[in-house]
Parts: sequence; C-alpha cells; structure tokens
Amino acid sequence: MSSKSVIEHELVANHDALRFGLHAVKGDVVGAHPLQSLRESTGRIWEEKKRMGLDLTYGTAFNLRRDLDAQILSRFQRPPGALPSSMLGFEALTGGLDDFAFEDYLNLPQDSETFRPLDMHHGMEVRLGISKGPATILSSHTNERGSPKAVMEVVNNEFEVGECKGQKLVDGEQMPLVLRPAEAQKRGPCSLVAALKANKEWFEEKLLQHSAVLLRGFDVRDAEDFNKIVDAFGWDDIRYVGPAPRTHVHKRVWTANEGPLSEFIYYHHEMVLINEFPTKVILFCQVPPPEGGETPFVPSFRVTQRMLEEYPDNVREMEEKGLRYTFTAVSKNDTASMRGRGWEDAFGTSDPAEAERRARALGMNIEWLPNGGAKTILGPRPLTRVFPGRNARRMWFNTVVGMHGKETSSATMADGSEIPEHVVKRCGEIIEEESVQFKWEEGDVLFLDNLALLHGRRPSLPPRRVLVATCK
Ligand SMILES: [Fe+2]
Repeated sequence: MSSKSVIEHELVANHDALRFGLHAVKGDVVGAHPLQSLRESTGRIWEEKKRMGLDLTYGTAFNLRRDLDAQILSRFQRPPGALPSSMLGFEALTGGLDDFAFEDYLNLPQDSETFRPLDMHHGMEVRLGISKGPATILSSHTNERGSPKAVMEVVNNEFEVGECKGQKLVDGEQMPLVLRPAEAQKRGPCSLVAALKANKEWFEEKLLQHSAVLLRGFDVRDAEDFNKIVDAFGWDDIRYVGPAPRTHVHKRVWTANEGPLSEFIYYHHEMVLINEFPTKVILFCQVPPPEGGETPFVPSFRVTQRMLEEYPDNVREMEEKGLRYTFTAVSKNDTASMRGRGWEDAFGTSDPAEAERRARALGMNIEWLPNGGAKTILGPRPLTRVFPGRNARRMWFNTVVGMHGKETSSATMADGSEIPEHVVKRCGEIIEEESVQFKWEEGDVLFLDNLALLHGRRPSLPPRRVLVATCK
C-alpha cells in the first residue's frame, strides 16, 4: 500500500480548511516526505520493468490476463469475521504480501487496507440529527503501484448511487453510474434541477470518471422538465448536423433519430465527422419501448486497445494515412430511412451554392448527383483521438464500421486505398462485445461523454420516445 499525504480529501466532499488546514495542490501531488516520493516512483519503475519482462517472456496476453485477475481479485475481500478482512488474493498476485510499506512500520490507519477511519465529526453530526448521513459506497481504487485501496467514496448528499441491470465495470468504474434521489421528497424535477445546479462540478467530474451517468427515479415527465435539467449546467447548445431525421420539440430538446424503429442505428460518436462535435449527448426517455430499443454505448478506448492488440499494422497504417469518407444524401427528408435526412435540411438551405459554402465550413466537399442528391466527401479524418481529462485514453474516434462498404456511404484510407474487409468486420465484433446497455425506464435521463463513448440504438417495438439534447 502507499501513503497519501492528504486523506481528508477522500473523506469529505469539500475541503474543510478549519479542520485540515489550507488546501495545497502541491500537498496533493507531491509526497509529504522526499523518501515517500522516492519510494513511490521507484515502485512505479519496478512495476513497469516487471511488466515489460513478463511481456517479453510470455507475450502481451500474459499481462492482459494478469490485469484481469487483478481486477477480479481487487473486488473481493475475505468476508469480515473474527479476522479482519483483507486483500489476500490480490496481494499474493501482485507480490504485495512481500511489500514492507508505511503501514507496516508506522501503523497509520489511513494507510491500512483493513481499516478505514470514518469522519468522526460528521458521524456525530449525523447521530445528533444535525446533518444528513451521506450515502456511501465502497469502491476499490488501485493506486499508482497497483495495490488496492479501499476508499469510502462520499456520494453527494442529494444523490444516492444505484444500480441498473446491464451496467459494467470498465477499468474499475461502473458504466453507467446510476444516481437516484437521496430522499423520496427530493425526487421531483425541480429538486433535481436545484441539486444539479448546486453540484455542477461534482457532477461533471463524475461524468468524466464514468463516461455515462444515468439519473433514475426523479419523475422527469416531459421535454420542458428535460430542458430545465440540461439548462441547469449552463453548457452551450450545439446544433445537430448529420444524416438522422430529427424534429425540434422544445428549446434545446429534439427527438432522437426518427428513422424506423425496426432498424439498428449503428454505434457512433455523435457528429464525429464534423469539425465541431458535442462533448455531451443527453437523452431522456419519455416513453420506454415495450421491447428492445436500448441505447447501447461502448467505451471507445477499449476498441482502440483491442484493435491494436489484434491488428497493430492495419491500425498504424490507417492512423498514418488518415481516413476518407463519402456519404450520399437525397435532397428532401425521407423518414422511411434512418439515414434519410435530405441535404437541404442537413445544411439548412435549398440553394446548392450556399450548401457548398456551409459544407466547406464544416470541412466537407460536395459533388452533385444527377437525381438532385449530393455526395458529401470528407477527409482526411483521424482514426483515433486523445482528449484532455480522460486519462490519456486513445478513443476510436471514427465511423469506419458504420460507413464502410455501404450503399450510401464508404470509408477508405485518405489516399484511396481500401481498408481490409476482415479488419472492419472484426472491429464491428469488438465494438459489440464491449457494449454496455440497460433497459430504459420512464423518466430516465442519460448523460453520455461523447468524446469517450460510442452509442447506438437497438431495434425496438413501438412506441418509443427518447428525446435528446447535445452540448458543446
Ligand atoms: Fe447519436
């Protein structure tokens, strides 16, 4: 285990300067003592060397397997009883049993794997009824040296962490994070809006951490309620540009793709091909479908990781050359197709010259077709992207699988060379394998980090009404 110089930040949501002294960034990132910093960095270097050694000796799959085992073992403690609970299995796997660390010679409670001190001050206030007891969840964090660290994550007083069927643990984080009202009387949309306004930064942090946050049980009823929720954050709106036919409902709220419910809308980052794309896609379920109709989403970095493992050469070539896409659109909207948005609606004009000008502003070129349709050409476009604040994860920020070899679209490398069919096919399988989905319930509001997740829509039986707002 390793020592953190400031444990207080893990126990309380807001830093209490009276009790813990002034907050200092340096104190958070630098070890309290030079020896501690040295010990931590040495540990990291040795861990990297060890990984490299295992990699060269047994192949990359070995480390992958080891990571999986570690992830599983870090979740299970010996159940509490006469003996204190411990991470015996995990420690045995990572060699932590042989590690002689701060806890062993200083016996500091904050470094202990088995004992997590509670905030006594707050505990007493809860007992006396002065303040509300925070809902707490026990989450296992892995510190920089790979040892597990049981941390009581204090969940905001307004929200309680829930669960939903289908959520997955990705890289130690639940996807989606389910937030429910902490108290029954706080379930109305007005209370929710107030809670979101008061906890904007906290919520944004959670969204970055989990990539998807599902608000459930808040009685959100209609587009007006939904609009207020979206507005609560003060994020700028971004106008939708793309092939999906959509209708404006109220202020920032639009219908999601109105294409036939029987069709699967393939996984995509919203507006991935446009120069300016939303960072957040927010969905509200007004009428849950009786069957199907889930909105599956995929942690994009996992696709990059797995494609790099399986096709490193193809990935490198696509990355170096860049990608080129084409898309053919009719002139007028055709709601019989999920890609039936006409170019006139997409570009907001029926004048071809103006459409060309607007297309160029979005980074596209247009070729006019004899039937009045337009062939839009985009490229070169990147295969992957890394965005700030997302753990340096390399996102699969493209739409190759969705557009490759289709009747109305194509995806090739930017120099015109073909992307091998089997690579695209396998990529599609990987995306599906990595997908996460849950059953929509009435009033659900789902926040997606559009830079970290691909999303789609499964075929559904009617009726289904899901509304959407996109933010910069
Ligand atoms: Fe979408």
